[in-house]
Amino acid sequence: MKILENISLKPYNTFGIDCTARYFALIESLSDLMEIFAAREFLKLQKLILGGGSNILLCSDFNGLVIKIDLKGIDLLTDGSIKVQAGENWHDFVLWSLENGYNGIENLSLIPGNVGAAPMQNIGAYGVELKEVFLDLEAFHIETGEIHVFTNSQCEFGYRESVFKNSRKGEYVILSVRFNLHKTDEVDIRYGAISKVLENQGILHPTPKQISNAVIYIRESKLPDPKKIGNSGSFFKNPVVLKSDFLLLQEQYKDIPSYLINSLEVKVPAAWLIENAGWKGKVIGNYGVHKNQALVLVNYGGAKGADIYELAQKIQASVKNRFDIHLQMEVNIINGTN
Ligand code: EPU
Repeated sequence: MKILENISLKPYNTFGIDCTARYFALIESLSDLMEIFAAREFLKLQKLILGGGSNILLCSDFNGLVIKIDLKGIDLLTDGSIKVQAGENWHDFVLWSLENGYNGIENLSLIPGNVGAAPMQNIGAYGVELKEVFLDLEAFHIETGEIHVFTNSQCEFGYRESVFKNSRKGEYVILSVRFNLHKTDEVDIRYGAISKVLENQGILHPTPKQISNAVIYIRESKLPDPKKIGNSGSFFKNPVVLKSDFLLLQEQYKDIPSYLINSLEVKVPAAWLIENAGWKGKVIGNYGVHKNQALVLVNYGGAKGADIYELAQKIQASVKNRFDIHLQMEVNIINGTN
């Protein structure tokens, strides 16, 4: 395994932030991973496990070891499940599944990132979440070097949440994920935007491939392509608020959208709050808030992570001030100067 020194992380984060990693290791096998965690010279260094780099904001140079997971392979198992290695690109896997007649993740088309990162935050879009098709995963326990299996319930999935962001944070490296996809043509078009696109195209009974195309169309029209404009998708989570508080807000802001979570709570689109606090499309030099989706912060080229973080904090403060709602950041803020 090759260890690189003082390399730019720009190609490895979709925000396109140009920070330097002191050391960088590309992990192509389990033995690479075991070797790197056993290496004495790196024992005390701060470590950053990197997948597709699509959910991080680098706020400084990383004065430690970056471990980029590049495990590859998609295997059809005899029980009909599909085992995918962590380093496979998520969208490539979605396309693979559709080409091979396996359905269930078409609504999750074009989500940036790798398969290994998908369970971390239970990726979701257009009415579907990863947990609906997730069977289990294999993860490397950093402290003992053992491989542990986590079932669906053991992952404790929630809205953009899992055990790996909470009680098990920093303890594991996800190696592979096993999926239970179906072979029927059953699709999920409950999400309004999808049915609208299909309706416009005159499609009455969409196939999973047509759903995937509709999702790609919607995402491309609203979300910036990280290859052209650096970003990490939704920067904040949609906040969940008490229904009683929401009703008070609604008296003042008649058009505020919401989704009912249960009889006591509602989810409010963070994008609406940010837009109505006046931030949508704001450009500050070489970074800002995207013009089509207020939930997405963007790097127009050469921006510093710390500046984008400061902008995120300003947005938080202004939403709090205006609506008394705290916006939680969804993106992982990386500060590696220690
Ligand atoms: N809206 C605004 N202003 C905007 C954008 C949206 O007011 O600039 C309002 C609209 O009223 C709209 C509502 O927000 O009806 C919801 O917008 P949208 O359907 O675009 O979804 P979202 O809640 O903003 C979430 C996910 C996205 C996912 C979409 C579609 C989170 C944090 N984000 O966004 O995920 O693609 O739903 O399912 O849950 C990501 O995680 O990176 C991501 C892009």
